[in-house]
Amino acid sequence: MESCKYNRVILKLSGEALAGENGFGIDFNVAKRIAQEVKQLVDLGVEVGAVVGGGNIWRGRSGEGMDRTTADYMGMLATCINALALQDSLESLGVKTRVQTAIEMKEIAEPFIRRRAMRHLEKGRVVIFAAGTGNPYFSTDTTAALRAAEIEADVILLAKKVDGVYDKDPHKFDDAKKFDTLTHLEVLEKGLQVMDSTATSLCMDNNIPILVFGLDEPGNILRAIKGEKIGTLVSS
Ligand code: GTP
Repeated sequence: MESCKYNRVILKLSGEALAGENGFGIDFNVAKRIAQEVKQLVDLGVEVGAVVGGGNIWRGRSGEGMDRTTADYMGMLATCINALALQDSLESLGVKTRVQTAIEMKEIAEPFIRRRAMRHLEKGRVVIFAAGTGNPYFSTDTTAALRAAEIEADVILLAKKVDGVYDKDPHKFDDAKKFDTLTHLEVLEKGLQVMDSTATSLCMDNNIPILVFGLDEPGNILRAIKGEKIGTLVSS
């Protein structure tokens, strides 16, 4: 394998990452661009598990006044729509993929089976983990942390709209300072908006580094995998 810092990764994409400019639904040009970047990793021999959010279609919090559990299940279904879109974009480029869902929907995709997922990864297939953890009250960031622990990933690549972690919102404050490195504990103590606290704690307890970087700049996923200094690295 060409010099890569990480051999097996979880790539976490928010649902919004697939939405493009309009912020809603799926922009297939954007999905294709992300797929091209993922393909570069696969071509290098990196084993890629992907976790997608669903916020471009439905967010649990959009269901104000709704039963929280029902709203969360709707979010899980939204992630499945995104997973199939990503699968389609990847396969149109010749990348082999499998979608595994945390809630069984066998007619559409395989159920999540850890050992099977590992086997797919070893065979160079991108495994897209959908339907979150299958439980309400858990985010897709927590799904990324959980799957990373389960498949023994070297890192979570957390693709964001901003290019790292800042001490305050860089869209609102010109003097916002970007962190190059942080510990999981610092993220929790400073209340930084990297991942929610459940996800961050799971990463901390299982010693999983999180590399936060901006997805808007083409080539960033590849840079991240080669260990170039981009974004913010959260580790123990
Ligand atoms: P290997 O055993 O490593 O060859 O993996 P494989 O995924 O090719 O094995 P399998 O023959 O089980 O799967 C063939 C195809 O069926 C793949 O595209 C799988 O994603 C798909 N598949 C397997 N199980 C299920 C399932 O429960 N539901 C759905 N919808 N597809 C499935």
